[in-house]
Amino acid sequence: MSEHEKSSNVVWHAATVTRERREQQNGHRGGLFWFTGLSGAGKSTLAHSVEEMLHDNGYRTYVLDGDNVRHGLCADLAFSDEDRKENIRRIGHMSMLYVEAGIVVLTAFISPFRVDRENVRKIAGTDFHEIYCKCSLEVCEERDVKGLYKRARAGEIPDFTGISSPYEEPEFAELTVDTQSQLEACTSNVFDYVVKSTRR
Ligand code: ADX
Repeated sequence: MSEHEKSSNVVWHAATVTRERREQQNGHRGGLFWFTGLSGAGKSTLAHSVEEMLHDNGYRTYVLDGDNVRHGLCADLAFSDEDRKENIRRIGHMSMLYVEAGIVVLTAFISPFRVDRENVRKIAGTDFHEIYCKCSLEVCEERDVKGLYKRARAGEIPDFTGISSPYEEPEFAELTVDTQSQLEACTSNVFDYVVKSTRR
């Protein structure tokens, strides 16, 4: 039995307040909008900016963010390939609980490995929308908002994405956003996509 198959004698309890009823009340469908890209590509900034716009337009939303989740739920995980896999697995399942609650979930995780993102797609099915925040390593490194690239180059941070750990670009992202361009343009681009994808 694998680590993740221990709870075999449990039965899913179906809610009487169903996803369908929640979505009816909300006036839109739930969905999982999975932002992926290098550290410093602007995933969180864009996700929060899109959330602002959705919120102003009456949408029920929530942003799950790498740095925040790693303070609590995933505080036991580091950045080895295995730990990243587990990080993404947990977030995938957690996101689906939010989607079941009828919410538009925006996630901002590097999620560098294709197979891990595809595993979330398997869990979420058509609720999953991969949004590639495309930004060159050069630009991310130049921005270096948190000063982590400098430290990674100095050999102080192991397994740093883009430097000493790979980033696998999406091959079939539902949406690719050039996050080297203006935030406003990226925001309305993603906003339009979310509105279209969550129409009832
Ligand atoms: S993921 O690879 O497992 O998806 P996640 O998005 O949760 O990563 O966390 C990434 C954030 O952790 C980065 O934005 C950065 O601030 C911080 N971080 C610390 N160490 C590393 C590292 N080795 N590689 C990438 N990001 C790191």
